Amino acid sequence: MKISIIGSGNVGSLTAMRLAQEGLADIILVDIVKGLAQGRTLDLEDARPILKYNYNIKASDDISEIKNSDIIVITAGLTRKPGMTREELLNKNAQILKEICLKIKKLATRSIVIVVTNPLDLMTYLALKVTGFKRNQVLGMGISLDTARFANLIAKELNIPNTDIEACVIGTHGEGMLPLPRFTSIKGVALDEFLDDKKIEELLNKTMSRGLEIVSLLGNGSAYFAPSAAIVSIIKVIAKDEKRTIGISAYLNGEYGIKDICIGVPCRLGKEGIEKIIELDLNKKEQDKLSNSAASLGQLIKQLPS
Ligand code: LAC
Repeated sequence: MKISIIGSGNVGSLTAMRLAQEGLADIILVDIVKGLAQGRTLDLEDARPILKYNYNIKASDDISEIKNSDIIVITAGLTRKPGMTREELLNKNAQILKEICLKIKKLATRSIVIVVTNPLDLMTYLALKVTGFKRNQVLGMGISLDTARFANLIAKELNIPNTDIEACVIGTHGEGMLPLPRFTSIKGVALDEFLDDKKIEELLNKTMSRGLEIVSLLGNGSAYFAPSAAIVSIIKVIAKDEKRTIGISAYLNGEYGIKDICIGVPCRLGKEGIEKIIELDLNKKEQDKLSNSAASLGQLIKQLPS
């Protein structure tokens, strides 16, 4: 199996490291900045004798190295500066993504594409349109990260292990994020048995602003430990055809009453990429929020390059 990672910044290179340690595939690390992918790759190679792994990793500043990849991860693009929303990155990153996707369309027609560049749901939509791939082939990593953040905050609040928590977040990986307490449980017991409404509200807000909190603390750059872990967990499910359900940004064509939008929903993933979109039984308030998020994405889609 061949997995290419486009963009060798913190998220891209840490994804490469985690993937290498999984021993799942040959890895290609690409960046247009001369020397960046090469430098990161030499460093990753040097870890092999220490870790006692024989992973294959190759670097390039030439995107044509992605030819015939089975999976392609796009992390290239600008990250937020303190105070910025993900949506503010739209114009610059759309240009970068479009160029990359035109190459993918030519060089790796059968690949599954995982978009990580922000604004996530809009970049996923753009990738789908520019490649012209089938909708199961293109997905965005966003809400699996938000789900992990929600679970982590609950675990810390209750002082219990993360592994006991089944959290659920849908919506955009952005301003329209929608953590769902009603679909979040601890060993099968609903969240509101443990926390009152005020506390839950507080955790929802913290989840939604977590990315920006990290950006502000770092001062330069955004999160990469949890994002790379989320990317690799998605890749594992696809590469091993595990059929597990994970929240990702998927193209909806009528599901949840939403059409022609990529937005975060739970999906069953396997070797074909998105194998099934799971429709949660949302109540009116939840559905209205999701529909509103979709409508704001619809407005921003108009700004994407054609
Ligand atoms: C974050 C960026 C990756 O949420 O969107 O940290």
